[in-house]
Amino acid sequence: MDPVTRLIHAGEPPANPVRTVGPAIQRGSTVLLADSRDLYGDEINYGRTGLSAQSTLKSALEDLEGATAVELYPSGLAALTGAMLAVLKAGDHVLLTDGAYKPTRAFCQTALERFGVCLQIYSPDLSAEGIIALARPETRLIVLESPSSLTFEVQDVAAIAAAARARGILTLIDNTWAAGLLFKPLDQGVDISVQALTKYACGHSDVFMGSAATTSPAVADQLGAGVRELGWAVSGAEAYDILRGLRTLAVRLARHDSSARILAHWLTQQPQVLKVLHPALPDAPGHALWARDYSGACGLFGLVLRPAPEAAEHALLNSLKLFGLGFSWGGFESLALRSDPQLLVRSFPPRLGGPLFRLHVGLEDPADLIADLQGALAIYDQTAAA
Ligand SMILES: Cc1ncc(COP(=O)(O)O)c(C=O)c1O
Repeated sequence: MDPVTRLIHAGEPPANPVRTVGPAIQRGSTVLLADSRDLYGDEINYGRTGLSAQSTLKSALEDLEGATAVELYPSGLAALTGAMLAVLKAGDHVLLTDGAYKPTRAFCQTALERFGVCLQIYSPDLSAEGIIALARPETRLIVLESPSSLTFEVQDVAAIAAAARARGILTLIDNTWAAGLLFKPLDQGVDISVQALTKYACGHSDVFMGSAATTSPAVADQLGAGVRELGWAVSGAEAYDILRGLRTLAVRLARHDSSARILAHWLTQQPQVLKVLHPALPDAPGHALWARDYSGACGLFGLVLRPAPEAAEHALLNSLKLFGLGFSWGGFESLALRSDPQLLVRSFPPRLGGPLFRLHVGLEDPADLIADLQGALAIYDQTAAA
């Protein structure tokens, strides 16, 4: 054969690569089939469906979530929006918690409304009865997020799921804070459990991915159809990264939890601090529900300081050395940000009495993190007094 042809066909990959502890990372849009009859059969015939790493990750997530089916999406937000698009149609009514991640709310208020879905926002403090009282004949979905983004209210997920199911309404929860490990929404009767795998499953702040898990065959069909129809796909290399993260999720979360509780407790004793919004603290909002439902906490919590000019808030954050200033969370590193600008869209803004911050406690030594915060709180005082 001509060298050009040989160049194109030489060096074929082995049909059965040796086994390693992780799956093979297959890069491929084209999937080669052995028999012409298989081209239109049931076998995987195109890479967008996901190859070995994606299917291994899906089965690991099924195990983690107690699910019978899991779909993968290219980000946590895509998992939330993709799952909603899969189960909703024009004319449906959706109840969404005011504590939802801000882009989830933005999607519901823009894309969903454009497609004829009507949205109503409820307070994260509302009881199951209160939420169901807002339901209409055309209510199709209740969207929960617990604890709430930024303000950390805990919802009575089991009661809301039971009340919704009795009315034939689906429930979907953003369970990213619990990372699929600290709380099991599907066991509590929720229909769809969504996680931003970008956070703790990844653990290193370098991959975007999301998942939606269910135990309902009907919902599984809808989620699967939604992924196929909308064309979501994730790469094998990134699926591998998330799977690798899952192997150490439990030990990392235990460290995030213990360090975050040390910092949260220390912060409650500082004169600049009004409130610490950490569900594991006995006087924090939602503590009783958290203690009933969760096997632990992660490294993310809120902090309300005594009021001071905005310049003091910036001075505090800018003086931090170990806490990076940035969005996202769930990685090995500590992060801090001001939350108030994000609360402006809330329909039921909580009365906190001072500026709200969010801390993500990473895997560093907690004593070093306390020293960093101590210096920053001193700067807060100095700037406020200047
Ligand atoms: C609670 C929550 N859900 C979902 C997401 C979205 O995840 P992603 O950034 O992967 O789209 C985030 C991101 O910060 C989040 O905090």
